[in-house]
Amino acid sequence: MKARLQEMLDTARTAIAVAASEIQLQDLRVSLLGKKGTLTAIMKGMGQLTAEERPLIGALANEVKSELETLIGMRRQELSDEEIASRLEREKIDVTLPGRGTIRGSKHPITLVTEEITEIFTSLGFGVEEGPEVEKDFYNFEALNIPKDHPARDMQDTFYISDDVVLRTHTSPVQIRTMLRQPPPVRVIAPGTVYRRDSDITHSPMFHQVEGFLVDRNITFGDLKGILTTFITQFFGEKVGVRFRPSFFPFTEPSAEVDIACVICGGKGCRVCKNSGWLEILGSGMIDPEVFKSVDYDASAYSGFAFGMGLERVAMLKYGVNDLRLFFENDLRFLRQF
Ligand code: DAH
Repeated sequence: MKARLQEMLDTARTAIAVAASEIQLQDLRVSLLGKKGTLTAIMKGMGQLTAEERPLIGALANEVKSELETLIGMRRQELSDEEIASRLEREKIDVTLPGRGTIRGSKHPITLVTEEITEIFTSLGFGVEEGPEVEKDFYNFEALNIPKDHPARDMQDTFYISDDVVLRTHTSPVQIRTMLRQPPPVRVIAPGTVYRRDSDITHSPMFHQVEGFLVDRNITFGDLKGILTTFITQFFGEKVGVRFRPSFFPFTEPSAEVDIACVICGGKGCRVCKNSGWLEILGSGMIDPEVFKSVDYDASAYSGFAFGMGLERVAMLKYGVNDLRLFFENDLRFLRQF
């Protein structure tokens, strides 16, 4: 029995040393020291021993058992150390590698011109108003002296929601809403989105305008010219040429369109200005007394001027953009330039 115990210890020593995982080690432990294991099997022979041999073999068996427990424990520790070391190796992070970085966004050119125009007019004492994009016929047309059968309605290819409700075709209805809300004097601009049934290289069915108007006592066409010239030179530069050209709008009388000297050719004449040397940038005029009637302003005591301009157009001229559609395609190669 002594020899068998010794032999068991020797074979187990090798088996423990080569056990490659904790599970293998656990199986080994059961097969050696478990209820049905090798040690139990050997000890079944105790009955045949003499009274002197028995305690000696018993002691030896205990020694073998505790020796095996120690060896298994040590091997378990070794395996777990190896596992930790290999995980550390596998999951190593190089903190000195450069990061992926985030791309910085930029403001849309229409936002940029809106902000710049707003800044110029607020510095001249104008407030900022907004109005709804889905608008009543009354505010978009009727109160602006454009009755139902007026030919000027054809100028503004309108999206109708119903007989009485439209997508606003211009920002001018904000004039009416503002004047109905407060008595004169008023000085406001109203930037916003507008809609027309029109789509080609120079027209988009959705675009942007800034409206502006001022009403007070003794306001003259000279005030209109002064404010608009100040705005244009601040926005396009001191040297740009400006001219006021007679025109017609139902809500202003007299009316004028304002041109700047062509930013491409400097006024000599080119493809962009169609050889005229001038580019139209806004519509304006003295507010028609008919408009004052619809908002209950006293036209004998007050006068005012109004203007409206297309933001895509001024953005194209300011930044030298040659296709309106670029503003709405969201091509990052375009947008990143601003
Ligand atoms: N609402 C006009 C348009 O969309 C632009 C305009 C012209 C606005 C003259 C005005 C103005 O306030 O006085 O074409």
